Amino acid sequence: MKCTMDFKVKGLSLAEQGDLLIEWASAHMPVLSQIKQRFEKEKPLKGAVLGACLHVTKETAVLVQALKAGGAKVALCGSNPLSTQDEVAAALAKTGVNIYAWRGETTKEYYWCVNKVIDHNPIITLDDGADLVGTLHSKRTEALKTVKGGTEETTTGVVRLKAMEKAKALKYPIIAVNDAHTKHLFDNRYGTGQSTIDGILRATNVLLAGKNFVVCGYGWGGRGLATRARGMGAHVVVTEVNPVRALEAAMDGFQVMSLNEAARMGDIFVTVTGDTSVIRKEHVVKMKSGAILANSGHFNVEIKIPDIESLAVSKRTLRSNLEEYKLKNGKRLYLLAEGRLVNLASAEGHPSEVMDMSFANQALCAEYLMKTQRLEVKVYDVPKEIDDMVATLKLKSMGMEIDKLTAEQSKYIASWEEGTI
Ligand SMILES: NC(=O)c1ccc[n+]([C@@H]2O[C@H](COP(=O)([O-])OP(=O)(O)OC[C@H]3O[C@@H](n4cnc5c(N)ncnc54)[C@H](O)[C@@H]3O)[C@@H](O)[C@H]2O)c1
Repeated sequence: MKCTMDFKVKGLSLAEQGDLLIEWASAHMPVLSQIKQRFEKEKPLKGAVLGACLHVTKETAVLVQALKAGGAKVALCGSNPLSTQDEVAAALAKTGVNIYAWRGETTKEYYWCVNKVIDHNPIITLDDGADLVGTLHSKRTEALKTVKGGTEETTTGVVRLKAMEKAKALKYPIIAVNDAHTKHLFDNRYGTGQSTIDGILRATNVLLAGKNFVVCGYGWGGRGLATRARGMGAHVVVTEVNPVRALEAAMDGFQVMSLNEAARMGDIFVTVTGDTSVIRKEHVVKMKSGAILANSGHFNVEIKIPDIESLAVSKRTLRSNLEEYKLKNGKRLYLLAEGRLVNLASAEGHPSEVMDMSFANQALCAEYLMKTQRLEVKVYDVPKEIDDMVATLKLKSMGMEIDKLTAEQSKYIASWEEGTI
């Protein structure tokens, strides 16, 4: 780690407000708080430099505090140019975190921040979307020699890492935190579901009841979003490319159709696929005037914005995170948060309670990587003991007890001899 006071944030004067936000998040993250207390005593990350590229939110700050309690030095940048909460960034900078993040970074500034984190020569990387790993493997290969392992927070990052592994381009082992049960079943589903609605409402304040709400992609994020939109009284339509997921959506009670068809009837469209060019020119021209478009997938490529730009005669910002495009055909379309993750750019990201589990996995996987001597270079699942421990601690924090298998039951479910009696 170079200089402990090296950072770049919007303004340190915001730190006091940031402290209060972090305090509020921490109060809703009992599992991570418990891990932090243990880390304080055991110092499992003593002297380790951790390089993190994560959305800089109040919950990420609680994770950083836990890692620091474990003895780590943390260098942090945001994982999206629009997701940094400047108050939180200021508070972290004040406590000696080498943070490089502010809301509204240009692409060039974004990668400047990523490179500043790499300058600290991390031994472990914590990534969200694999931009840090991608930069290390392409433009900063000299820094690879100090890296022992890494973790990845989101579906899109895991997809990219698995492609790297397949192409034999991956140079160090990475744990796919996203794939832990205690991560994607809750964060991607309930976190994305609720916070995406939150982002849409903060940007527009439209009534969801009675609207045709089109969800593109019925994965973990899409399932959560479709369910929450239905709960607000919207008529939810799902579009998919995977027949099994489409069938699941249909049997969950949603209307399934092609996007070409949905384009004509939708009032609100949200992409959450991890794919590119999902909403493009052929769909945009069919949309009703007044249609609202948002994305909750990792990158801002799911809505093909250049297509909207090419069809537009004018564009204006109506309110924060809400841009109006007037099209050549006279219709008006509304794009939220520049097509970036609407839940983070236009709201605060996932609620703390759900990030409690995601970031408990991150902290425990960082500890696991530090403790483990040698790992083959590949993408790993989160060890089952960690996943189960996070679930157990979370249940406990919620005051819930569950049953235990009796000896007879353990034997029965592990055997094949007993059948119809
Ligand atoms: N907004 C957030 O805070 C947040 C949180 C978690 C994940 N994510 C991101 O959201 C995206 C989706 O994550 P997930 O966990 O739901 O992934 P997932 O793999 O579970 O689901 C994605 C679904 O999209 C479908 N799909 C792919 N291309 C499509 C297309 N052209 N049209 C319609 N459907 C299509 C796939 O068949 C799949 O069912 C990823 O980019 C992930 O990184 C965002």
